[in-house]
Amino acid sequence: MNELRAHYEANGQGHVFADFETLPEAAQRTLLEHAAAIDLAEIAALHRELVVGDGARADATAAGLEPADFIPLPRSGGTGYPGLWQEATRCGEEALRAGRVAAFTVAGGQGTRLGFDGPKGSYGVTPVLGKSLFQVFAEKILAASRLYGRPISWYLLTSVLNHDETVAFFERHGYFGLDPERVHFFNQGFMPAVDAEGRILMSDIGKIALSPDGHGGSLRALVRSGSVRRMEAEGIDTISYFQVDNPLVRCLDPAFIGFHLMNDSELSSKMVPKAYPEEKVGVFCQRDGKPLVVEYSDLPDALMRETDAQGQLRFRAGSIAIHVFARGFVDRLGGGGDAAARLPFHLAHKKVPFLDEAGVLRNPDSPNGYKFEMFVFDALPFAKNPVIVETERRDDFSPVKNAEGLDSPRTCRDDQLRQFARWTQAAGVPLDTDETGLPPFAFEVSPLFADTEERFITAWERLAHRPIPTGGLVLV
Ligand code: UD1
Repeated sequence: MNELRAHYEANGQGHVFADFETLPEAAQRTLLEHAAAIDLAEIAALHRELVVGDGARADATAAGLEPADFIPLPRSGGTGYPGLWQEATRCGEEALRAGRVAAFTVAGGQGTRLGFDGPKGSYGVTPVLGKSLFQVFAEKILAASRLYGRPISWYLLTSVLNHDETVAFFERHGYFGLDPERVHFFNQGFMPAVDAEGRILMSDIGKIALSPDGHGGSLRALVRSGSVRRMEAEGIDTISYFQVDNPLVRCLDPAFIGFHLMNDSELSSKMVPKAYPEEKVGVFCQRDGKPLVVEYSDLPDALMRETDAQGQLRFRAGSIAIHVFARGFVDRLGGGGDAAARLPFHLAHKKVPFLDEAGVLRNPDSPNGYKFEMFVFDALPFAKNPVIVETERRDDFSPVKNAEGLDSPRTCRDDQLRQFARWTQAAGVPLDTDETGLPPFAFEVSPLFADTEERFITAWERLAHRPIPTGGLVLV
């Protein structure tokens, strides 16, 4: 303890222990634990590089950037493609049947934009029953387990902010029918917030202002938590990654998994053409032949708006944060086995409630603190044979990020309804929709009834001969 305290004092962070003696024993233990996990040299270096020495970043980002290549959907890919997609689907299905694939959700974020108090995955999103994001994913995973005849494991990244609540939510809901032995939660790392001078901010007496280390931290958390070893023991070599905010995601998409495996890729990613230049999605680019994602906030305006000869956005390959990782790649990158392959930290300037020097808790009304985060897509340039595959936005992407407006509960509900309406129409049921495809009433389809248009048609045809399964299809 004295050594740790001296180390903090020597590094200009002695204030972290200012109230140590007044704390109850449990709080003292937590403070020591958190303080010991923080690498002060790393924090000082990040402050120096990112807070003090910013500038020239956008220019550096733009230098030598070209749009990334991708595998187009059959409808935009010309001859030969439908066959290729079928082959990829078969390959992915085989891997799923062999039990080689796990689902992986990053759910450690704070969800501040949505303004929802609780783990974001517990937020209700479906149009009628208001099923939570976690329940939607659970049902998709359960449906895939039944389809491929194998229980599929689900790994979930949580954080110091929501781990216990997330586990309690699953327990309260009986793991939504999944085998609890196959649902694995593990905590990501954290970083302290600092002020403009690099001093660690305290969120309360004896409490360091901590935040998760970004979804890029999921790679080292997968290794540190023992999840990678567990996967190995379970015979899993392929990890299907998605974010907690997107209920439309195909959690285990056989074609996507197949392209990843057929190309012997270490990291594959899905893209959709951007809907409009300012859309807040990262963009797949390449530099020196290596793909990378440039975050929307870092893409220079001129590139964001540049069009090609066909009048399409030149940098249009939007990242929807759906990836497939090879387990061995996660092991190599997350385990630090490859010293050259380290994910960089990015800076976020945020309002961070803090204890001032007089010991008064302040709620700033403008950004006062700096947080450091790693982004998972920064792994892309380190991956062997990376593959980027186009997908249909309407079948894979409608995130809930903001309380209102774009990417809100409302837009996501409407996108789910449009999908259910399309499936119903494809099954030959007369259903009027408006010009955007929205039906005049709300209904929902459980993934346990059908999770693709094809399976909906089959399940619907079977219904002609059988009663409707309880909870499978809800008409209101
Ligand atoms: C993200 C991507 C963006 C992509 C878009 C698609 C970043 C920086 N940007 O934007 O390129 O186009 O999604 O929807 O990611 N999370 C953790 N731990 C953390 C931080 C985040 O698990 O420490 C999880 C969140 O729970 C969430 C996901 O990562 O599932 C996305 O995080 P968020 O910060 O909301 O990213 P966006 O800015 O929405």
